[in-house]
Amino acid sequence: MFVSDNLCVNANGNLTIGGVDTVDLAKKYGTPLYVMDEDMIRRECSVFQNSIDKYYDGHGLVCYASKAFSCKEIYRIMQSENMGIDVVSAGELYTAVQAGFDVSKACFHGNNKTLEELKMALDYHVGRIVVDNIYEMETLNRLAGERNEIISVLLRIKPGVDAHTHNFIRTGQIDSKFGFALETGEAFEAVKKALSCPNMELKGLHCHIGSQILDTQGFTAAAEVMMEFIEMLKIKLGYETLDLNLGGGYGIRYTQEDDPLPYDAYMKAIAEVINGFCETHDVRRPFILIEPGRSIVAPAGITLYTVGGIKEIPNIRTYVSVDGGMCDNPRYILYQSAYDALIANKADQPKTEKVTIAGKCCESGDLIGENMPIQHCEVGDIIAVCATGAYNYSMASNYNRLQKPAVVFVKDGKDRIVVKRETLDDIVRYDI
Ligand code: LLP
Repeated sequence: MFVSDNLCVNANGNLTIGGVDTVDLAKKYGTPLYVMDEDMIRRECSVFQNSIDKYYDGHGLVCYASKAFSCKEIYRIMQSENMGIDVVSAGELYTAVQAGFDVSKACFHGNNKTLEELKMALDYHVGRIVVDNIYEMETLNRLAGERNEIISVLLRIKPGVDAHTHNFIRTGQIDSKFGFALETGEAFEAVKKALSCPNMELKGLHCHIGSQILDTQGFTAAAEVMMEFIEMLKIKLGYETLDLNLGGGYGIRYTQEDDPLPYDAYMKAIAEVINGFCETHDVRRPFILIEPGRSIVAPAGITLYTVGGIKEIPNIRTYVSVDGGMCDNPRYILYQSAYDALIANKADQPKTEKVTIAGKCCESGDLIGENMPIQHCEVGDIIAVCATGAYNYSMASNYNRLQKPAVVFVKDGKDRIVVKRETLDDIVRYDI
């Protein structure tokens, strides 16, 4: 009935998440409100970790891609789950460090890390810096040299694999701003250069083919291509790759139409390719890293809104306006992403209408979705949009000077605030 199995209906007919009444949460904290189920996040971490144990003898590390949802509490949870993390900016790294996360288990990504960010990564002894380009390689080697240190790096490779997903979230193909291309020989030259950098230890390779991928083919193709490259490096350069980071991208269910695979199916398929390759070729079995972001947090989250104006345009559509929109969820305006929504205070009633849920920004495209099946909407109803735990809070903005919503975690039937709602004073904080 619901897209995520942590959602239920209670005796009052209200939607619950992790056993907590969402209508009570809306009253207690106000709307818009992000709510996330902590146990579900922890469960998803275990699913990925267990898949590495089961199919790859535990010879790997799951790094939560924190761009999906980043705040201190999520890094504390990742630390307690023995996860690694992927960070992409000084801001994410700083937040992790502030939360007490051991960043020796962090991978630092980005196609244009600033000098400040690279220095920070060295200061904090980030475990693996994923080098994107030659300029960055030279800069890092110089910075490490100035400190008399050897820095561990992976190289980001474009495997030339085309994942079936939205154009803006595809990254593995040759025409991408990320990494070194295999086909052109650029990746091979980059490995040679990294091996000649005296203050650099090349630990291995990284690739990421895209996001919200709902089949295993792209991943197995990428694993295959990367293993062939690893073999070529051994034959031609005598270089043995220790780490192979295969990125994230595992798809989730946003609507009933999506049919995601169980997450461990990906690792099973990937492990088969790598184990098979290593059995038949003279290459060392690499330590595997994977970087799921969306799949760890998206299904665990919902967003609650209050319905304001309702506008029926005869024979065209009905607009149901809510007190948030593209500022807290820009995914429709960016990618036309589909979501499932329901009225939290009428969760036991059938969905009899199809409406356009509109945000409150001065922008016609500010929608949560069009043609969305939903219960009969009235002013004051609480709308819950499901599976918003990833790339919503983390991509929120203050457009129109709206305040970013609070984030509440629920666990064991209790709720607690992990990110406060912004105030109007926060909005003018940096204005002179
Ligand atoms: N690793 C790397 C190097 C990445 O670039 C990404 C995502 C991930 C891991 C995590 O991918 P995930 O498991 O979350 O699919 N804003 C877009 C998604 C952008 C993904 C960017 N990179 C969206 O809302 O769909």
